[in-house]
Amino acid sequence: MLNLIALDGPSGVGKSTTAKRVAAALKWDYMDTGAMYRAVTLAFQRADVSLNDRSGVERILASVGYEQRGTSYFLNGEDVSDAIRAPEVTKNVSAVSADPRVRTLLVELQRNLGQIGNWIVDGRDIGTVVFPQAICKIFLAASPEARAQRRFLELQAKGLSTSFEEVLADQARRDHLDSTRDLSPLRKANDAVLLDSSDLSLEEVVEKIVQIYRALPQVL
Ligand code: DC
Repeated sequence: MLNLIALDGPSGVGKSTTAKRVAAALKWDYMDTGAMYRAVTLAFQRADVSLNDRSGVERILASVGYEQRGTSYFLNGEDVSDAIRAPEVTKNVSAVSADPRVRTLLVELQRNLGQIGNWIVDGRDIGTVVFPQAICKIFLAASPEARAQRRFLELQAKGLSTSFEEVLADQARRDHLDSTRDLSPLRKANDAVLLDSSDLSLEEVVEKIVQIYRALPQVL
């Protein structure tokens, strides 16, 4: 058993906000695996390399230096925290994250990072593939409308012009890709607790996760 919280769930369910708050409550570190897939997607875009270009993909993956410092994300030394949230990256990240070469590299990076310290890790395959031995696994769910509404308000607050229908449609497309891909599809681990956040506040979700973790036998 590994003293780690694995937090999985679909896009827009509030995993990263929740994970940051749980990490603060427990004084743990937070690993955002979606940010890693986004950083690699950005690296491909910047180099104008497509997934069909075998040697290009190998070159990019061999040269990607990724680092998380606090809540900032660095690609080869450059702070890309904002760039990895750009709509263009969001559009392409599902395809990049379905690629076995990308997943092999990033899963290894995630496992190495997770060796030292106490982590809450969010993603899609954390409880099923990356850290199946995690002591605490949560699958966070919410209705598609509730998720799209949150994402829509976030984008509006950032001044990006989009409609609720567009956000809902894009989310449905990503959900489909993430849950039907061959490799590590989004799926609740058998031993994960299902937590539906549709009618819960952020504080309530955080509190529930902390309670679930604290009720477990402690791993030393
Ligand atoms: O959580 P997010 O929206 O930042 O994730 C970006 C993409 O990366 C999303 O399409 C799913 C993918 N992803 C993944 O395949 N495995 C993970 N552990 C985390 C994210």
